Amino acid sequence: MFSDYINYKSHGNIIKSVSEKMIADTSGEFNPYLNIFYELRLHEFDFHRIISGELTNLVGRDHLVNVYGWSLLDDQPIRYIKKFVGDSTVVEVGAGRGYNARLLKNNGVNIDCFDILDEHDDHWYHITLETFYPIMKGDHNIVLTHKVDEVNKVLMLSWPPYNSSFAYDTLTNAINTASYSKLIFIGEDAGGCCANDEFFDLLENECELVDDLSIPQYNCIHDRLFLYNIK
Ligand SMILES: C[S@@+](CC[C@H](N)C(=O)[O-])C[C@H]1O[C@@H](n2cnc3c(N)ncnc32)[C@H](O)[C@@H]1O
Repeated sequence: MFSDYINYKSHGNIIKSVSEKMIADTSGEFNPYLNIFYELRLHEFDFHRIISGELTNLVGRDHLVNVYGWSLLDDQPIRYIKKFVGDSTVVEVGAGRGYNARLLKNNGVNIDCFDILDEHDDHWYHITLETFYPIMKGDHNIVLTHKVDEVNKVLMLSWPPYNSSFAYDTLTNAINTASYSKLIFIGEDAGGCCANDEFFDLLENECELVDDLSIPQYNCIHDRLFLYNIK
């Protein structure tokens, strides 16, 4: 089971084959990353051996967040997001490999994804540019131009980088276009490891919390799903 979905040496191939299986899934229920996550908890020793030979749980997480994604969604959050979004378009910026976007799309959510992923970037995160969902190139300014005439769009940010103005800039732009009415934020709350203080101030002043839901969490990680209306 693990070897089908985790291979430290060739994760480009793994992403490609898992992605093909997800695209073919018509039930919306195929969520292999979640299965790995739960199996990891049941068989921690095997997991460690496969990932690193010797290292710790955190190494396992470090690997998986970069192959699959930083947050895990199971049935309940997916249902909440679907209800929250309705027929609107979700625009996810900083989408990484687009694993959750594929899951949401398979569950009937319209979603367009952007990231600054760049084949010339030699950061280890970008060892392969294979993705689970089409990721277009774009940064925080993409919300100023993408489907700008379409109203009531939903901005999605999942684990925006810590101590960076990226999330703040993206949300500021979304608010300024007035074509976004909602925000999905997945990550750690103020004081955690996502975004910067200005982002959380903006949330408090310009957004209204609709729901705050638990999602499957790695040990010592405190991410949640936050659904906001933009005022
Ligand atoms: C911690 S990862 C989270 C990835 C993904 N959202 C997830 O939950 O798996 C942060 C992502 O933000 C992207 N990113 C960072 N700065 C960005 C920017 N200015 N514009 C667009 N994407 C950016 C990175 O390339 C990376 O994919």
